[in-house]
Amino acid sequence: MTSKLHYTVPGMSQTDAKRVVALLQSRLHACNDLHLTLKHVHWNVVGPHFIAVHEMIDPQVEAVRGFADALAERIATLGGSPVGTPGALVKARDWDEYSIGRATTQEHLGALDLVYQGVIGSYREGIKELGELDPVTEDVFIGQTEQLELFHWFVRAHLEDKGGHLSTEGADTEADAAAAAAK
Ligand SMILES: [Fe+2]
Repeated sequence: MTSKLHYTVPGMSQTDAKRVVALLQSRLHACNDLHLTLKHVHWNVVGPHFIAVHEMIDPQVEAVRGFADALAERIATLGGSPVGTPGALVKARDWDEYSIGRATTQEHLGALDLVYQGVIGSYREGIKELGELDPVTEDVFIGQTEQLELFHWFVRAHLEDKGGHLSTEGADTEADAAAAAAK
């Protein structure tokens, strides 16, 4: 997936650096996918809450683009070569393309709940592994996870009732989550 490392940061073995680069590359693909998906949502939401959701999404796009940049530059710092092309992303990803086109704000937010669950879950798995491998990269992951979890809450606050229940609870596909959120 990534080219040979000819050097890495002082004090890190080649083996550890390769694994850290692989974890970074996985999140780089996730962030590149996420910021494009968020723009797609920004363009495709319809309904009475259009402007609120349309405008809520753009700061998330900007932040996630920034995360991708930080991840890619960390790969380069470790002696690796970040892969940022769309074809490579599509080949490498183990999740499906975002499946909702023009739809109501609630439907998109329901689907985005699932998107954020996937992205954040993988960040947290990475954090567990990085605690041993590289606390510096772990720190990058933790900072980005904190922001992603905040954005996830912005999404979920639209799906939550007064009792604290999410309309998307138990949904395991974007289509199911969108349908549940629209009810
Ligand atoms: Fe726009």
